Amino acid sequence: MLIEENRYLKIIETSKIKGQEDVYLKSMRYINLGYPILLFGPPGCGKTSIARHILDSLDREYFTIEANESMTEYQLIGGFHPLSMSASKEVADEFMYKDGIVARAIMHGKNLLIDELTRAPSSAFSSIFLLLSHGILTLEHREMVLRKPDDWVFIATANFGDVGSFKLSSALKRRFIPIYVSYPKRYVEEALIREYAPGVGEKVASRILDFAEETRRMWKEEGALPQGLSTDGIIKMARYCELLAREGIDDRTAFSDAAFHQGVVIADETDQVSIQLVNELALRLTAGL
Ligand SMILES: Nc1ncnc2c1ncn2[C@@H]1O[C@H](COP(=O)(O)OP(=O)(O)OP(=O)(O)O)[C@@H](O)[C@H]1O
Ligand SMILES: [Mg+2]
Repeated sequence: MLIEENRYLKIIETSKIKGQEDVYLKSMRYINLGYPILLFGPPGCGKTSIARHILDSLDREYFTIEANESMTEYQLIGGFHPLSMSASKEVADEFMYKDGIVARAIMHGKNLLIDELTRAPSSAFSSIFLLLSHGILTLEHREMVLRKPDDWVFIATANFGDVGSFKLSSALKRRFIPIYVSYPKRYVEEALIREYAPGVGEKVASRILDFAEETRRMWKEEGALPQGLSTDGIIKMARYCELLAREGIDDRTAFSDAAFHQGVVIADETDQVSIQLVNELALRLTAGL
């Protein structure tokens, strides 16, 4: 077993990401079964941190790459550098065939994290289908076939439907075990405020959590916002409010400032209605302070 059952708890307890025990357990179980996993969910809820923490706790080191819209098979599998076509022999010799990160990971026996998988078009990943389902990676131009180690771990993270992201092809999606990372429970986020900003008053903490809850509802149930406030956003608001309190600035100013800042993050900044909705919510919650 790659991750012994008696290590589950230790890994969960040593994570800075709180309230995601279920995600950890599911991920570690599927990793033990040898499947690649895909952590997906809203922004800022700990997907990358969870993936890194699991990988950090394994004996084998790992490579990481962040996908982007111009990514192709070249970065992932390998290929000829554009300058290999240069008329200058020296330049051409210098920029020959380069192995991509997936090929290098398998060659050097490293695990792999592909962060933000849906930032790249699915076509960039078409050459790893066999690897994902049968553990084989063919390097066409090298006339070489690589086989993944038995205990090789591959984790990807993604936001589905985020602005600027690609839709995952179903062929790629079904080769992963998708594990949803949602926002943690309110009491967990309340504890995070205490941990990261112990000087924040109870009322302000409560308004920050209300702001998160309401924006998430507006996103999920009404589709009025492109996303809700992330756990990361909660921590940022709390730390800002704590700092202002230390500087002697009143709670109302601090909270409304922080809410306006995070409002821009979560609203569609090109849509006045969207911005107005968050701002109205921020003002309503400020009035209750
Ligand atoms: N449940 C949580 N417990 C503690 N901290 C959290 C939690 N969720 C998010 N955070 C904080 O949010 C920060 C961002 O997390 P991370 O980058 O892992 O999220 P993500 O889901 O990968 O975001 P993105 O979708 O933007 O890539 C972390 O550094 C951590 O401080
Ligand atoms: Mg991330």
